[in-house]
Formats: sequence, C-alpha cells, structure tokens
Amino acid sequence: MTQDLRLTIAAELERTRARTALLTEAVDEQDLLKQHSPLMSPLVWDLAHVGSQEELWLVRDVGGRDPLRPDIDELYDAFKHARKDRPALPLLSPEQARAYVAQVRDKALDVLDHVRLDGRPLLDGGFAFGMIVQHEQQHDETMLATHQLRSGDPVLTAPAPPAALVPVTGEVFVPGGPFTMGTSTEAWALDNERPAHSVDVGSFFIDAAPVTNGRYQEFIAAGGYDEPSFWSPRGWAHKEKAGLVAPGHWVGEGFYRRFGRIEKIDPDEPVVHVCYFEAEAFAAWAGKRLPTEAEWEKAARYDPATGRSRRYPWGDENPEPRHANLGQRHLSPAPVGAYPDGASPLGVHQLIGDVWEWVASDFDPYPGFVAFPYDEYSQVFFGGDYKMLRGGSFGTDTSAVRSTFRNWDHPIRRQIFSGFRLARDA
Ligand code: AVJ
Ligand code: FE
Repeated sequence: MTQDLRLTIAAELERTRARTALLTEAVDEQDLLKQHSPLMSPLVWDLAHVGSQEELWLVRDVGGRDPLRPDIDELYDAFKHARKDRPALPLLSPEQARAYVAQVRDKALDVLDHVRLDGRPLLDGGFAFGMIVQHEQQHDETMLATHQLRSGDPVLTAPAPPAALVPVTGEVFVPGGPFTMGTSTEAWALDNERPAHSVDVGSFFIDAAPVTNGRYQEFIAAGGYDEPSFWSPRGWAHKEKAGLVAPGHWVGEGFYRRFGRIEKIDPDEPVVHVCYFEAEAFAAWAGKRLPTEAEWEKAARYDPATGRSRRYPWGDENPEPRHANLGQRHLSPAPVGAYPDGASPLGVHQLIGDVWEWVASDFDPYPGFVAFPYDEYSQVFFGGDYKMLRGGSFGTDTSAVRSTFRNWDHPIRRQIFSGFRLARDA
C-alpha cells in the first residue's frame, strides 16, 4: 500500500517536472529572464521558486536534511517581492535554476524513499508530496498564462480539442436542500477545501454550459461595454480606466491571439480571459447572475439519486481525457458539448476543465477551517479583494483541481484562463 503510494508520488513528481521542462525549454534564455507582463514573473523565477518550495517542504521539513541553498530563500519567497519587481532581483540564471531544481528533486526522491508516509498529518496520504506536486502544477498554469502574454513567434503546440459531440443548451434545475460542501477525506485537498460541512442551498437554475464566445459577441454587439446599468459601479470604473472593449487577447474583428497565433474566434467555445466585472456585467445583460460558490459546487457534486456529494461531476473516478479538457493537452477551451462523459448527474457540462469559472463569492474560510501547513497558502488571503474561481481550465493539471478545489483572484484579473457560467433563482 505505501509502496504503491510512493510509486504514485514519484510518477506525479516526474510527470509534473516534464511539464515544467516543456514550458521553460520552449523559449530561449533571454525570454526566460524577461518580464512579459508586469502581472507575471519572469519564467526563470517560477522555475527556481518551484524548486525552492520543494526544498523547504520536502528536503528540509519532511526529510530533516540540511538546506541546499539557504541564501536564496528570500529571493523566491513570493511574499517578499511583488511580481513586477522580480526581474530586477539577482535571480539564478536559467542554467543555475535548472541545476538547482534537479538537485532538489534528487534529494526529494531520496527523502521519498526513506520517509514514513503516515504518523504525521503533514505526511498522511503523502500530503506534503501532493502539495508540492500541486504547487508546481499551479505554477505551470501560471507559466502558461505568461506564454499567452509573450510576444514573438509561437513556441507551444498541441492538438486541437475535441469537437462537440452533443448539443448542450439551456439550464438545469438544482433542487433546494442541504448538500456536503468541501472535503475531510480527499488526501491531497488543500486547507481551504476543508472540512466537509453541510450547506443548505435554495433551489436554483444553472446553465448547462459556460457562456460561449458567440453569446459574448452578442453582449458586445448589444452595447454591453457602453451601458453602465449592466455594470457594478466598481466594475464600470475599472472598465473605463482599463479601456476594456472585449475579452483579453481578442484582436481585430472576430479573431483572438493564442500563444502567438491569430485564430478566428470559435463561437461555440467558452469565452476566456474575462475579468469578474465583465462576467457580472454579462450576467446583468442576460437577466441572470453568477452562481455562488456553494451553488457551483452543488451543481458539480450533488447526486440526486443518493444525496451524496461526489468527487467529480462524473463520479468518483480520477479525471481521464474523456471527462474534461485539463492538463494542457490542448491549448484552448473545447467547444460546448465536447465532454458528455464529464457531465454531472443533473446534466451540467464542462464544470471541470476548459475555463475557470468566476463565481459570486468572496474568499472566506469554511466553518472549522484550520490553516495547514502554512498560513500563507490560504489564511492570509481570506477577506481580501478576491473573487472565487472554480473548476480549472485547459491549463490546469488533473492533480491541481477537484470539485472542491478553490481558486481566487482579484476581480480585475483576466490574464488567467477565466470564463463563467450563469445561474438564476428558481
Ligand atoms: C491558488 C492559484 C491563487 O498562484 O497565487 C502558488 C497558488 N500559492 N504558489 C497562486 C499558489 C503559492 C495560488 N492560487
Ligand atoms: Fe508559489
């Protein structure tokens, strides 16, 4: 049993590192050191930061080994330097960063060989290793967002996502009543997803699919960006100041730029690169609203036949390629209807993968929350100027998203792979 767990962890670490290598080897040294947007770190910072977190948790804490590079802790502490200031730091060069992450990995694997995977909450079910896998995968998604912002020739390639297999339209009724939100049993769930608790949610309708580019074009054509009554006062002020007229990366009439390629906008794909304020304005125009976080999770997990909350919309099995567009297998969302095997029992599609979905809730702890294993993962962000995002995107790895997974960002952000779906009261 624990031998199987060790093998699983080693395989996950290796799979994750292959993704990091792909993202950081696709560009030259200059590109790695460069800041492609003040919102993002240079890619070489992400690379060494991933190694630094792995050293702190797996080598030093779990392994009790001596520090490899205590001198660089401060450089790669995300709380010490804002992203915009990172290019000016005396960072490790690409070559040094690669050597560093390889050395750390070698030690971490030696720790994995020797450590007992129980007896300590940090190690139960291999949690510390799972946390580090997810951390690296989260930065891989961040690096993918940096790739989307970089200029120059395209360097990433991937097959197109699957085509639509079934028509998906309209909305789904979710009956009112309590359901179990969050988890106390998912081994690699992070602190903010815990504990499982009952939430009574009133009846509501939720759209069977995320809002598409086609619908978003209708909003634009209807003057959505020119009509203050659709926007919250803060949203309108931001839109005016930032000069928003369309989702991020839309260029010309009917095109978007994706990882350096100009492509014709597919009206059937979920819209991506919108901020919370745009999602909110669209919802007002459409006469609906964004779901709350609890509504989204109930739509994703609640099985009306048993009353039980499942791990994923399709059941308890881990995500397979047929369930959801995850893991950077494709470099865009898939059209609505491409993943019938991933639908929830109530018939809600593409909740997991494709685009992160903005929901109307703020970042607050669940009742009984305990910061674990460090305050800076979640606790310090509670009550801040954040809105929640659910479900993961095409850029999110399977290890870094679940129906309970909670992501958050400032409501003005749209460099992330963010879209939304609509709901309304029943
Ligand atoms: C959970 C995606 C908001 O990227 O800021 C990475 C994850 N925490 N390193 C982020 C995270 C520390 C976090 N998000
Ligand atoms: Fe980090």
